[in-house]
Amino acid sequence: MKKSWWKESVVYQIYPRSFKDSNGDGIGDLQGIIAELDYLKKLGVGIIWLSPIYKSPNDDNGYDISDYKDIMKEFGTMEDFQLLLEEAHKRNLKIVMDLVVNHTSDEHKWFKESRKSKNNKYRDYYIWRNGKNGGPPNNWGSYFSGSAWEYDKNTDMYYLHLFSKKQTDLNWENPEVRKEVFDMMKWWLDKGIDGFRMDVISLIAKDIEDGDDKPNSNEVNINSARVHRYLKDMNSEVLSHYDIMTVGETPGVNPYEALKFVGENRNELNMVFQFEHVGIGDGEEGKWGKSEFSLKEFKRIMSKWENVLEEEGWNSLYLSNHDQPRSVSRFGNDTEYRVESAKMLATCIHMMKGTPYIYQGEELGMTNVKFENIYDYRDIETINAYRDYVGSGRKSKEEMMEAIYKRGRDNARTPFQWDDSSNAGFTKGIPWIKVNSNYKSINAKIEIGDEASVFNYYRKLIALRKKHEIIAYGKYELILEEDENIYAYLRKLNNETLLVMCNFSDKSPQFDLPEDIKYNKNELLISNYNVDSYEIEKIKLRPYEARVYLINNM
Ligand code: GLC
Ligand code: CA
Repeated sequence: MKKSWWKESVVYQIYPRSFKDSNGDGIGDLQGIIAELDYLKKLGVGIIWLSPIYKSPNDDNGYDISDYKDIMKEFGTMEDFQLLLEEAHKRNLKIVMDLVVNHTSDEHKWFKESRKSKNNKYRDYYIWRNGKNGGPPNNWGSYFSGSAWEYDKNTDMYYLHLFSKKQTDLNWENPEVRKEVFDMMKWWLDKGIDGFRMDVISLIAKDIEDGDDKPNSNEVNINSARVHRYLKDMNSEVLSHYDIMTVGETPGVNPYEALKFVGENRNELNMVFQFEHVGIGDGEEGKWGKSEFSLKEFKRIMSKWENVLEEEGWNSLYLSNHDQPRSVSRFGNDTEYRVESAKMLATCIHMMKGTPYIYQGEELGMTNVKFENIYDYRDIETINAYRDYVGSGRKSKEEMMEAIYKRGRDNARTPFQWDDSSNAGFTKGIPWIKVNSNYKSINAKIEIGDEASVFNYYRKLIALRKKHEIIAYGKYELILEEDENIYAYLRKLNNETLLVMCNFSDKSPQFDLPEDIKYNKNELLISNYNVDSYEIEKIKLRPYEARVYLINNM
């Protein structure tokens, strides 16, 4: 297995709108990020992934770009960006940009031209079809509710939008579109950025047939042969010329398909974000329905990805991001055992084989939020789904609010909690979305000063990664597969073994060391409780306890 800087480092995702506001307009910005680079340095991460900072009308908070070569005015200017890049590089922090090229904003000049007439030079930059029987061309649904097709009366045709109707899908079959995208990528890479996170990249090539072609309207026909052809072109024309990191967001991709994206000899991407573990138990209503978490299922999925990608691929490891609820609320216990379970979850993810991603605030154990009123929510997916479910009577208001409390994306988008001053120190103005009311007890200022905090635990985890090669490169092996409360696994490299045990419950299950594990010496590397014995054969784990031992093989 080849070694790389992005395999040995930890990524920190910033959602700029909610990170730090420098000028009091209530919206986080680039100067705010610059002001907090030392905070990230202290934490020890090596790579920053910035959610989109390009010019945008913000229908989907920047995931709808109207100019790829300009900065969103609320976030600052190109000079601010240059400064951010310089200041980050000075501190040895890399900057990875979000690349949103499945679609643009409908306010992008390409689309404004495209919709003008059927023979406009930009017409084929987008996906236009005639209607069918007085309705849309087929039954594809948008991920943000309703049809994926929007009628445009100007030319009496429909355009495709897999997300909101202001996120118009680019036509990747058109070589001019690919050239524009590749040129734009080079333009940013030549400024010195260190890579791309590619938004819904698995969706760029679609097979569109006339009429309904899917029983479930939320499935899109992806043409995987063409996705890979486009990524190979992108790689040979752009990516391969730079020492960068790439990670593709790939909904619907299983580990065998993932190997095609990230296999070392495939010349496409370095990593993908998989969705299997964050969709555990989702039923027909997807994220808005009832879903039951099962640790056994979680172990099965994570282990499958670890095993399939072991030889030729590389995993990205995450429990939360700007589209997911807060990990401690979802997989842990955000009341009685908030600190313990946040640390346990971090241990579980950071000790696996792959590159760990920390989503802003996760390192503080920030939690989900419950706004009483739907009007306090800002996320387009949430608002559309509320309208859809409540409007059609499929759910009562109360049921829908409960679903939003569990899975809504705004859980992760409330302002970063810096200190206990008003608005959690995020802004001197009125924040664009309300602050979580628990900021007085959960904030960076308190946690930095508290040795036993979640923040300082993350620091230790990251520091361990730098010290022990086995954490990046050791082979993963699941043990105690059938245990319903404990997630335990080994990592193996040369004559060392790492033993990781994580109790996912508020009970005290017993950990029994499998008999075939022989050792002569062990060292406790980290734990979220005080441990005062060297005994590892039998351990009664405390609620959400996590321990990592380094074992020297005989
Ligand atoms: C990705 C982004 C999400 C966005 C969507 C459309 O899933 O992570 O935030 O809404 O793509 O761009
Ligand atoms: Ca601002």
